[in-house]
Order: sequence, then structure tokens, then C-alpha cells
Amino acid sequence: MTRKTIRVVRIREPGDPSVLSIAEDSLGPPAPGQVQVRVTVSGVNRADLLQRRGLYPAPEGFPDHVPGLEYAGVVEAVGPGCSVRKPGDRVMGIVAGGGCSELLNVRERETIRAPQGIPLEQAGAIPEVFMTAWDALFRQAKLSAGETVLVHAVGSGVGSAALQLALAIGARPIGTSRSAEKIERARELGLVLGVVASPGWHRAVVEFTAGQGADVVLDLVGASYLEGNLASLAEGARWIVVGVPGGTRGEIDLRRLMDRRASLRGTVLRSRSPEEKVLLARAFQDQVVPLFERGEIRPVVDAILPVEKVIEAHRRLEENRTFGKLLLRW
Ligand SMILES: NC(=O)c1ccc[n+]([C@@H]2O[C@H](COP(=O)([O-])OP(=O)(O)OC[C@H]3O[C@@H](n4cnc5c(N)ncnc54)[C@H](OP(=O)(O)O)[C@@H]3O)[C@@H](O)[C@H]2O)c1
Repeated sequence: MTRKTIRVVRIREPGDPSVLSIAEDSLGPPAPGQVQVRVTVSGVNRADLLQRRGLYPAPEGFPDHVPGLEYAGVVEAVGPGCSVRKPGDRVMGIVAGGGCSELLNVRERETIRAPQGIPLEQAGAIPEVFMTAWDALFRQAKLSAGETVLVHAVGSGVGSAALQLALAIGARPIGTSRSAEKIERARELGLVLGVVASPGWHRAVVEFTAGQGADVVLDLVGASYLEGNLASLAEGARWIVVGVPGGTRGEIDLRRLMDRRASLRGTVLRSRSPEEKVLLARAFQDQVVPLFERGEIRPVVDAILPVEKVIEAHRRLEENRTFGKLLLRW
């Protein structure tokens, strides 16, 4: 198989969204253990905005000049040694970089079956945010039925995924947003209590839980909510930091953490080893894809824009105007 000419989103140089364009590139055949995927949609993520600004270099082996962490599409070819996927299969997944490309070579074992009954354009809204939320809430923070989970930025991609996953297992989701409109939209997804994140927001959480606090805090904001988070912890709470747009540094009263017998941990998907990503993908396909197929959860799509509108997409995300996922159609 010869190299194919393909289109990718290109970062010309570090800067604002105007440095983005569609460029020609080429792609060789899939290596052993890889499949080649014709991408239907690529998701846009905060990490892409940082990479575009030159603040989040792609890991080794992935291009700095092509953003993109996730895709949904159709298998076009399989490399030597592949045994699970075949041409025509509908798949989705995360990649450590270069995902904004119309054709991708990805490790077969990291591909996930796109849920039956969900169009590929919608399935593109699943991998990054649902894998992040599911891994953080259940594999790490051990959220269980009957517990209360506080989800910050509940209208975000990860937030709206976490809210649905929590409801699916019988947990009670509480959510914050700086926007009353996003809270309203999250209520339509089943949010039990929505709190507009103005100073003192934690009082609503404490009151709603009759003084108990939240069992799990899914922190998608970081330092600016630190005080409120500490005040919202239930006894034995698990507080997990996933995103830090509100800052990375702050002061923690360790006595409060101790008194609540609470734990604080951080997590990231992108830098995990290929082996860890394979395990996550396999577990996600077995345990979460069926929830989509049974209609218990659904992808939340803010908009699907033609890839030529990538500049507009980055602006929209950067200005926090999205609810759910923003996707680029090839
Ligand atoms: N650790 C990982 O592996 C991983 C994976 C995926 C995502 N993330 C991170 O998780 C977070 C959510 O990702 P996403 O893709 O769901 O994001 P998203 O859809 O782009 O939404 C992010 C939301 O965060 C809120 N926000 C932004 N700046 C804020 C600030 N200064 N203070 C308070 N809230 C702020 C805004 O919501 P409101 O307008 O409602 O306030 C915004 O809509 C991001 O920080 C992202 O980088 C981490």
C-alpha cells in the first residue's frame, strides 16, 4: 500500500485560532497491530487550544503541528496481525495527538466499537469526555449508588458525561456552572441540583445534602474552587482533579482534609502508557458502550461544524460558549 494524500488541521505557529488551517499531509499504511480509520468527525478539546498556543506539546511520536485527541470513523484497512477489526467497522477512540486528520492509523486494541444505533457523527462526542468521566468517577473515585457527586462545569463535555454516568448507576449529581443557562440545560439531562458558581456556592451544596457534603467531587475547575470544595466534602469524600482552567495553585487546610478523612488525587488520560490505554478502551467498550446502546446515556453534541470552520470552533470553545461537545466533520 502506498502513502495516501490526506487533509489535516494544521497549526502554523503558536498563537490564536487564526494560526489554524487545513493542510495537505500524507499517511503510510497501517503498521502491524494498527488499523487505518477514515474519520467522520474529530472532537475539539481544551488540550487542542493549549497545544495551538504552544503550551501543551504533543507526546513523543505525535505531531506538534496537528491537534486532536479523538475521532469516530470507519475502518478502511487493517495492518498485519490485526484480528478484531475489519474494513467497514464503525469505531471511535482517543489518540495522544494528531487526531484532527481525515485518515488515522491507530492501534487496533485502542479502538472502541461505536455504539449501535448512534450515528458516527454523534459517536464522535463520546470518547474523550465519557472515558475521562467514567475512569475518574468509577475506576478512581469509586462513586457508588446512593452517593452524592459534585460535578463542576457541569455543562462541559466531561461534566455532562459525568452527570449522566452518575445517574445511570443511581448516584445523585449536583452541578455547578458560571452560567444559569447551562444549569437549565443540565437539568434537562437529569441534574438534581444546579448551583450557579458565585462566591459562597458551597453553601447550597452543604444545605442540599443536609450538612453532609458531597461524597465525590469531580473537579474540572481547580484552584478558584478550592475553598468551596474543601467546605463541600462529606466524611470519606474522594476529590479528584481533572481540569484546572481556574488555576493550579492554592492553599489547602490539611486539617479539613484530615477531619473529613477525605482523599485528593489528580488524573490525566493523555500521558498514559499504551498498555493502560488499551485496558481502559477494552473496559469502556464492555461496560459503557452498552449503556449508549440501551439509551441510558447519550452523547451531548453542542455543534458539528465542517472542518473548514476549525477557527470558529476553537473560538467557540475558548469563549466557553459550548454545552457538551464540539465536533469537526471531515
Ligand atoms: N485530565 C484529563 O485527562 C482530561 C481529559 C479531558 C478534559 N480534561 C479537562 O477537563 C475540563 C473539562 O473538559 P471539557 O472538554 O469537558 O471542557 P469544555 O467542554 O470545553 O468545558 C469547559 C468548561 O469549564 C468552565 N470553565 C472554563 N474556564 C473556567 C474558569 N476559569 N473557572 C470556572 N469554570 C471555567 C466553563 O463552563 P461554565 O461556562 O459552565 O463555567 C467551560 O465551558 C477541562 O479543563 C479539560 O482540560 C482533562
